[in-house]
Amino acid sequence: MEPNIEIVAERMLAAMVAEELSARIAEVIEDRDRCSLLLAGGTTPGAIYRRLARPPFVSDIPWEKLILFWGDERWVSQSSSQSNYYMVQETLLAELGDNQPMVVPVATSLSSPEEGALDYERRIREQGYCVQGFSPPFDIALLGVGEDGHIASLFPNSRALGEMERLCVSCDQPGTGQPRVTMTLAALRASERIYFIIRGESKAEVVDQLFQGVGSSEALPARFFLGEVGSRVTWFLDSQAGARLRMTTGEK
Ligand code: 6PG
Repeated sequence: MEPNIEIVAERMLAAMVAEELSARIAEVIEDRDRCSLLLAGGTTPGAIYRRLARPPFVSDIPWEKLILFWGDERWVSQSSSQSNYYMVQETLLAELGDNQPMVVPVATSLSSPEEGALDYERRIREQGYCVQGFSPPFDIALLGVGEDGHIASLFPNSRALGEMERLCVSCDQPGTGQPRVTMTLAALRASERIYFIIRGESKAEVVDQLFQGVGSSEALPARFFLGEVGSRVTWFLDSQAGARLRMTTGEK
């Protein structure tokens, strides 16, 4: 199964992903009258969230029918510049005025990341997702990839990669020890449609390793999204991240 890879000019990435998200959201809402969107953190998605908050998407998308979750969160205050919730608040929610989606952020005010993970899992199920195992799944998941191949806060060779029951677990970022709450691989892989967004020269090496297929998925967790799950996955790369792969769209 060949992966669905879109390599686009840097300046087109946000618009291309926003276009695809808007179209997919419309399809899901047509079918279910509600759409769950699992948001990526980090620095890449901000431009996409800003794009969604501007015409035409800001009026095309029925925000009141969306429910937003986070794929992972740093264990910091929601007002911290490190917070993925804060980043979404600044780039998207603050721009939507009265047209607000339902948001379900990780409660980082609780006493510990482990309590936060258990609480988040409970609240996801309360909203009707992953009630029986990982069914019904999230409708759409947006994910980034770290330079080490991590996705959400599922770092290489972490025990969280093997968790097959829980939706969320707590973990620490390698190196910094920063506590985090992350969706598990099993929960993310169950999502009905998954979009990866990878931008910048610093990701060219991990992108090359990812699609070369050399090495274990545990060592490069993004690789768990190739193979049979790949039919539900699209990889959006800008020309710098995809420099070692062949361009498919955008400026040649
Ligand atoms: C986080 C993200 C993380 C991110 C990758 C890529 O909380 O940092 O969820 O998984 O998607 O690290 O980050 P950049 O977009 O900043 O390169």
